[in-house]
Amino acid sequence: MSLIKVEGGRRLCGEITVQCAKNSVLPILAATILGGDTCVIHACPRLRDVETATEILRYLGCRVHWEADDLVVDTATMSRCDIPEDLMRQMRSSVIFLGAILARCGRAEMSYPGGCELGPRPIDLHLSALRDLGAEIEVCDRCLCCRAPHLRGREIVLSIPSVGATENAILAACGAEETTTITNAAREPEIVDLQYFLQKMGVCIKGAGSSTITVEGGTGLHGCVHRCIADRIVAATYLSAVAATGGEVCLRDVDYRHVSTVTAALVQAGCQIRSEENLICLKSDGILQGISPVRTSPYPGFPTDAQAIVMASLLRSRGTTVFVENIFENRYRHVPEFLRMGADVRLEGRVAVLCGVEKLCGTTVRATDLRGGAALVIAGLQGNGETHIDDIYHIHRGYDCLVENLAQLGAAIRYE
Ligand code: EPZ
Repeated sequence: MSLIKVEGGRRLCGEITVQCAKNSVLPILAATILGGDTCVIHACPRLRDVETATEILRYLGCRVHWEADDLVVDTATMSRCDIPEDLMRQMRSSVIFLGAILARCGRAEMSYPGGCELGPRPIDLHLSALRDLGAEIEVCDRCLCCRAPHLRGREIVLSIPSVGATENAILAACGAEETTTITNAAREPEIVDLQYFLQKMGVCIKGAGSSTITVEGGTGLHGCVHRCIADRIVAATYLSAVAATGGEVCLRDVDYRHVSTVTAALVQAGCQIRSEENLICLKSDGILQGISPVRTSPYPGFPTDAQAIVMASLLRSRGTTVFVENIFENRYRHVPEFLRMGADVRLEGRVAVLCGVEKLCGTTVRATDLRGGAALVIAGLQGNGETHIDDIYHIHRGYDCLVENLAQLGAAIRYE
């Protein structure tokens, strides 16, 4: 299964239940360490990044197993506080284990994390937040040696609302004496989900979803059962796919507020959208218009993770759309692949100018990163002839059954 083959030109119709969010599940799996007890993650998506997180948990001495679609994690047996480099390199989220391990063990050792190549992805804010809480961190040869026998609650001020740094600060603060306040915290729904999970574990935490989060550490924590929120970027992917091909789709279990910037863009492009609690339905005739500039920004702004996906849906639109990528320096690696299919997108630094073309031609393209890979699938669904998407392991990092779900909607798509 190294290739996805997709033949363009089919309208897509039907219903999909959207998987739980990767970016919720990963920090929550790190958080399971805090309780030293058993946690059950309901309907956990089967993703490569989730596999990596379970490998990390097992390496640490925890017991992890699947019961149907639920992931059961028992961290009572945790016996190590280091993560080997090969596991660290597999995904960016491995660094979120740092705050959790420090809170549980008072020390941690690991290398710098890997992840999608979207430009420089420093972890200075993570380290600075942990130092604020009293951790001593030595960095040698890209290896992090951290000691924090006594984490102390403090005010942490993030210079930018980094999602990962907010999560690391929260997890470490759970093991600190006294109260921690995180100012300029990230406001993403996945942070709110982490807060719900920690509250179920017994942590006294509030404020997630706003810019100020307070955590009272030092409480006796225990296991819990949780189902993560639906993946808003996966939802955006299915909506953008159907917007581009034409058709009608209803997505179940999604909070429409989490994708409101994306749905607003698709409405402007000419789609009809009806949202109810936990349901979004989109109808499109497949003839889209260019839209006003799409500028990515932290939540509740337009998500950087949906930039490639919405761009893909507009490749055959009438008119011009400007994209400005404000979060990551190098998040247009999908554009050269679009060009191979006959798209017209010009790049100038952080700006991409898309002029819709009449047709896209199927060819062989390469998934360059997770969302870029999903965007190529959307481009392929509109192409004349067959598109072959290579290096699809990127897509498996974050999408559970993407090919199966699109096929169920009527797409001519398969693995090879
Ligand atoms: C999270 O990454 C997501 N990953 C990303 O999703 C998402 O693109 C990103 O947030 C922004 O929304 C997970 O949740 C697992 P950041 P993260 O720290 O935490 C700079 C996907 O496709 N920065 O908010 O790494 C950084 O370089 C992925 O699912 C520092 O300078 O993002 C970037 O420019 C890809 N120093 C900006 O902040 C730091 O210490 C935002 O990054 C940390 C970040």
